[in-house]
Parts: sequence; C-alpha cells; structure tokens
Amino acid sequence: MGSVVVEQLTKNFSGVTVLQNINLDIKEGEFFALLGPSGCGKTTTMRCIAGFEKPSSGTIKIGDTNVNKLAPNQRNCGMVFQSYALFPHMNVFDNVAYSLNIKHLRKSNVFKKLGVYTRMLNSKIMKYPKDIEQKVMDILAYVELTDHAKKLTSELSGGQQQRVALARALVMEPDVLLMDEPLSNLDLKLRHTMRNTIRKIQQDLKITTIFVTHDQEEAMSMADRVAVMKDGEILQIGTPTDLYSNPKTPFIADFVGTSNIMPGTVLNRENGMTTIQIGNQQIKSTLATELQEVQVVIRPENINVLDEKEADYDNAFEGIIQVATYLGSTVRYDVKVGEHELVVDTTYESGDSILSTGASVKLSVSPERVLLI
Ligand SMILES: Nc1ncnc2c1ncn2[C@@H]1O[C@H](COP(=O)(O)OP(=O)(O)O)[C@@H](O)[C@H]1O
Ligand SMILES: [Mg+2]
Repeated sequence: MGSVVVEQLTKNFSGVTVLQNINLDIKEGEFFALLGPSGCGKTTTMRCIAGFEKPSSGTIKIGDTNVNKLAPNQRNCGMVFQSYALFPHMNVFDNVAYSLNIKHLRKSNVFKKLGVYTRMLNSKIMKYPKDIEQKVMDILAYVELTDHAKKLTSELSGGQQQRVALARALVMEPDVLLMDEPLSNLDLKLRHTMRNTIRKIQQDLKITTIFVTHDQEEAMSMADRVAVMKDGEILQIGTPTDLYSNPKTPFIADFVGTSNIMPGTVLNRENGMTTIQIGNQQIKSTLATELQEVQVVIRPENINVLDEKEADYDNAFEGIIQVATYLGSTVRYDVKVGEHELVVDTTYESGDSILSTGASVKLSVSPERVLLI
C-alpha cells in the first residue's frame, strides 16, 4: 500500500538539471529522511512524489501504482509544510475538517454545489456530518488539541499550529505522509519535543513517512533510514548508524556528525593493518583500501586522551590543547597535532578536571576506529 519507489527521477527547470537519477525504495511503514543542504533538491523530490511537480523523466510508484499521470489528490499523500499553510480565518476544527469535508462532498454527488459549501464553511455555519465531526475530534485528541478546537489557528503557538497541520494531514488517512522541514520554524526546545511527537505518531500509525530536513541531527534521531543528497543527487542511503560509522564520502562524514578529516597516503598493508602517512605522522587502520591517496576520518568520540602512565598504543600522538569547551556531560577539546587541529570529545563526570589551553596531551585512537574513504 504505502511503499514509495522512485526510479531514475530527473527534473529540469528551464534546462537546468536540479535532480539527477534519484532512486529511492521506501518501504511501507518506514520513516525515511531526505537530508541535505539548502538547494540540493529535497523539496523538488518531495513535490514530484506528491504530484505538484512533473518529473522530466523517471517513474514514481506508490504501492503498486505508477502515479506519474495521477493528480496530487489522487495519490493519497498527506503533506505538512514548514509554513504550516493553515487557513488563518478558520478555527482549528474547520482547518482539520476541511479536506475531509470536500472529499465527502465530492463523493456524495453535491460536488456541483461545492462553491456554496465553501461559502458556508467560510461563514462558519457549516454543520458537519456526525462521522466527520467524530473523526476530527478523535484526531485532535490524538495530537492533544481538543481544548483548542474552536480557536483560530492564528491564536495558537508555533508548535500547536504544526500539530494542526499534522492533524489535517493525518485525518485523511494518507498512504504516505510527506513532511517538508516541518520543524524549522520552531524554537530548539519545541523542536525536540515535536521530534518525539511525530516519531511516536508515525510508529503508532505505521504510516510511511518521508521527512525532508537540512538538519542532520533531526534526520539521524528520527528516521529509520536517511538519504543524503547534494547538488540534485543522492550520495548515500543508510540507517543513521550506517551513515555515521561508514560514510562513503568526505562530504557525508562531515555533514553527518562531526569528523576529523585528513588527507593521507597509504604506505603499506601488513598483518591486517594499513599504515597511512599523514604529514610527518603515521597512523594505522584495520580497514583495507585500494586507494593510494585517502581521506582519513576519525570521529571525535573515538579519540582518547591518555593518562601519562598508560601503556603504549598503536596510534598515539602528542598534541597541544587549543580550546576546551565544557558541554555538560562532555568536554570538547580542539587539539593541535602536527599541522592538523583535531576535535576530541571526552566524557565528563563531576569532579573531573578540564585540561587548559596550552597543555600537552597524548592522544590515541584504536585502528578499528580509523576510517579510510
Ligand atoms: N520552480 C522552480 N523553478 C526554477 N528553479 C527551481 C524551482 N524550484 C526549485 N528550483 C531550484 O531547484 C534547486 C533545488 O531546490 P529545492 O528542491 O527547493 O531544494 P531544497 O529543498 O533542498 O532546499 C534549487 O537550485 C532551486 O533554486
Ligand atoms: Mg526545501
């Protein structure tokens, strides 16, 4: 029912290619994020799936149906936008009931009188059929807006407006829920709460969801799988842990989480260990590579600050602390090692001392944690 398959999707705007050979295979019930910097083509991909944009080439399937020729309202997709796109002159209930009512009117052969009904809706004298009323109230209860049903949407906070938008999409029981940067207008704290709300609702309803965001933390914390996009192309698709621990390109290593990325030259591979020259230092990795010139990627939390008395390690380096940033449960150090400045995250427990700027430290990283791309 709600799977989404995109094959070789390409989109040009006046001769400029903004999407190139996009392939997606989104499973029914999956929470799938499209992640990438602004302008990379996330919204255009979404609009092609929803039917608001016509692909230049390629096919889009929802369930078993090729939807290329179907109008947006025949695709049974629910959409939630960054801007909420609510009707400001209608109350919460009417906003949520609107599309449901139109659908009901279309079905019940009074579509010809739709203009009359819309005027009635707008003039607030509309009486809804009982089942619509019940359905709307159920969904409002679900997003915890029962008490606000009669308020104008302009009287609500950003988070409440976003929940109205969500309710309005969900009440139509879409096969696919499409969300385009839905949290970007909310403040940080609310964004975190709404992440949990959306994820919980998605899991409850098991509704196939495509979630567009430029915020890697959002994508990684919410989605089952993430597609990373850049310049109209998909660079990598994987689970959040996949992408984090096995980025295929330096762009992804940098965009998904924080990384130390250094160019190096492979010297040799012996006994299951690759030795790489970085500047005047050598580092070992358990990974094999066919490349001669590589990017060495190390996550900040995989670098250890050693005690003086600790024994020798495979990859041990001397460094000088440049900046120490206390972040509550962690301390982030910027450490100068040779010509590179490395970001190092250490866990912090109360009572621990924090190294100060200018202090010499010894760092180590396990060869298993040295990625080569
Ligand atoms: N209707 C349009 N006409 C011309 N160019 C467009 C149109 N819509 C989007 N674009 C261009 O397509 C590219 C991708 O845009 P978009 O899909 O909105 O990116 P994102 O959502 O990732 O920020 C951008 O360069 C944008 O300027
Ligand atoms: Mg966009």
